[in-house]
Amino acid sequence: MQLACRTIGTIICPMAIGEQKSIKIQIMNKILVTGANGQLGNELRDIDRSGRYAGRYAFVFTDVAELDITDRAAVRAFVEAERPAWIINAAAYTAVDRAEEDAERAELLNAQAVRNLVSAAEATGARFIQISTDYVFDGRMPADRRPLAESDPTGPRSVYGATKLKGERYALGYKRSFVVRTAWLYSTYGNNFVKTMLRLGAERPELGVVADQWGTPTYAADLAAALLRMAAFCDEHPERAEELFGLYHYTNEGIATWCDFASKIMRIGGRNCTVKGIATADYPTPAERPAWSVLSKKKIRDVFGLEIPDWKESLVRCMTRLLK
Ligand SMILES: NC(=O)c1ccc[n+]([C@@H]2O[C@H](COP(=O)([O-])OP(=O)(O)OC[C@H]3O[C@@H](n4cnc5c(N)ncnc54)[C@H](OP(=O)(O)O)[C@@H]3O)[C@@H](O)[C@H]2O)c1
Repeated sequence: MQLACRTIGTIICPMAIGEQKSIKIQIMNKILVTGANGQLGNELRDIDRSGRYAGRYAFVFTDVAELDITDRAAVRAFVEAERPAWIINAAAYTAVDRAEEDAERAELLNAQAVRNLVSAAEATGARFIQISTDYVFDGRMPADRRPLAESDPTGPRSVYGATKLKGERYALGYKRSFVVRTAWLYSTYGNNFVKTMLRLGAERPELGVVADQWGTPTYAADLAAALLRMAAFCDEHPERAEELFGLYHYTNEGIATWCDFASKIMRIGGRNCTVKGIATADYPTPAERPAWSVLSKKKIRDVFGLEIPDWKESLVRCMTRLLK
C-alpha cells in the first residue's frame, strides 16, 4: 500500500568512507478543511483526533475567522502558503429558508467561494472535495420511487438548491474534484433536527411532523469518514485517481420520512411525546422542501467499496454520544 506522503527530496549522505546512503525526506499530505466549525467540519476534526489517519494526513482546520472563503485573494494566498494535497470545503450557506431572502450571500458562499477554492486548487495542484445537496433536484417523487442517481436531471426549486448547483458546476469544471451530494445531515455538533426533536420532545406531549417528504437521515460522522476514505483511496491508487474524480451521492442507507425520523429520535431519547404525521401543506416554509430526497449510493459503493450504515444504526451511535 502506498502511503499518502510526498517525497520532497533525496539527500545523499556520506556515512563512512566509500559508503553513501540516500535518505528520502517525506512529509505528510496536508488536508485543508474550510468551514471546520460546522457539523461536517467538526466530525472531520474528531477523525483527526482519533488518530485514524495519524502519520498519513496532517489536517489544517479553518473557519471564517482563519479563512473567509468568499475572499478570493485570501484563499489564494492561504492555499499557496499551506500547499495542501486536498481541500475539503465543509463551508456553506446552509440556512435554506433564510437563503430565499438573502440570495446574494447564498450565491457568494455556495457558488463564488467554491470558484475561489477551485481556482486556488488548480493553481497549486490540490485535489478538491465539494459537498452538495439533494436540493439540486426538483424533489418530485419518481413514479417508480427509485433513488436518484448522479445522472438524473437537476432542477432546483430554492435559492439554496440553485446556488449549490452552481457551486457543483464550478467544482466539476476542475478535473481533480469530487462533488459529494448528501442529505438530511445531523451530528452531535451544531443545530440540527435531532437536537430540535429532543428539545421539543421534552417540552410537549405531542408533535406534528411532516410525513410526506422522503429521504435518508445522514450522520455527518459517516459522511466525514467516507470523504476521507475517498481521498485515501485516490492516494493509494494514484494511477486510477484521475478517472475516479467526479460526482457522487452519499447518505446513510434506508428510507424515512421526517415523521419516521422524529419518532425514532423520541424513542431512542426516551421522550414521552407522540409524533403525529402531518402534510407538507400544513407546515409551510419559505423555501420549498423536496418531497423525494432519496439518493442512490450505488456509484460510491461500487467505486470505493464503501460499507454504508443504515440510518437507524447511525442515529443510535450519534445519540449515544449526544446523551452521554
Ligand atoms: N445540514 C444539512 O442537512 C445538509 C444537507 C445536505 C447537504 N449539506 C451540505 O453539507 C455541507 C456541510 O454542511 P453542515 O451542516 O456541516 O454545515 P454547517 O454546520 O452550516 O457549517 C458550515 C460552516 O461554514 C462556516 N462558514 C460560513 N461562512 C463562511 C465563510 N465565508 N468562510 C468560511 N467558513 C464559513 C459556518 O460558520 P457560521 O456558522 O459562523 O456561519 C459554519 O461553521 C454543506 O456543503 C451543506 O450544503 C448539508
